[in-house]
Amino acid sequence: MSAEPLLRVRGLTAGYGEIQAVREVELELRAGEIVTVLGGNGAGKTTLLGAVAGLVSVFDGEILLGEDPVGKLRPHARARRGIALVQENKRVFRGLSVRDNLVVATPRVAKAEFAAREQDVYELFPVLAEKRRDPAGSLSGGQQQMLAIGQALMAKPTVLMLDEPSAGLAPRLVAEVMDRVATIASRGLAVLLVEQAVHQALRVASRVYVLRLGRCTEQADFRGADQQRLLDHIYLGSAADGVRTR
Ligand SMILES: Nc1ncnc2c1ncn2[C@@H]1O[C@H](COP(=O)(O)OP(=O)(O)O)[C@@H](O)[C@H]1O
Ligand SMILES: [Mg+2]
Repeated sequence: MSAEPLLRVRGLTAGYGEIQAVREVELELRAGEIVTVLGGNGAGKTTLLGAVAGLVSVFDGEILLGEDPVGKLRPHARARRGIALVQENKRVFRGLSVRDNLVVATPRVAKAEFAAREQDVYELFPVLAEKRRDPAGSLSGGQQQMLAIGQALMAKPTVLMLDEPSAGLAPRLVAEVMDRVATIASRGLAVLLVEQAVHQALRVASRVYVLRLGRCTEQADFRGADQQRLLDHIYLGSAADGVRTR
């Protein structure tokens, strides 16, 4: 894991029209690390990811990718710089084959490069390789989620943001998707994970940010910490010895 953050969000205020759905959020993300963003419904998690991807208006603050400010760039320009977002309940093209879903998600690249990226996705999700010729609509919900993540990876991002990738999945599949997310990070990507399956998210993440009403109320580094104590601290505000928060 490199020491310098790859993605830095500073004093970010963003939202819709008059609504400031996230306020003065500070966040850092390093290559190879999974950071999870927790918070109740309407806390601003989706807005935060959308603002980083360029889909939601930024009212104030900075978004830095490495040393470069990207907060004013259009979404496709941020994507080209390496920022990818798999949106909540992202739909794949059901009528297209699995492989063609990967084709349409890939920016213009040489044939050999496409093949290499496609192979990487199939290695990560072998079930997609088996079903590469089948229509995506025939895949299970979990497999479609894997395909959606695969589509994002075809752009070869450096920052991968996932908005509730386990939504609607059976518990066993949630664990499997989280394991794959861990593998993705171990290849050097920086992963920002919004997840309702808190225990599963904490199993793979190294740090957590908690949003309440658009504000970041807790930031905790819990490598090696007791998860239940951390959760109690976050949700009940009780003392959590051994957990560094600020
Ligand atoms: N398109 C929109 N227009 C107006 N307000 C929105 C829009 N999307 C979300 N909001 C509001 O922004 C706040 C944060 O929403 P959101 O980021 O979706 O929360 P979360 O993902 O944590 O559930 C909520 O109050 C929500 O009602
Ligand atoms: Mg959301």
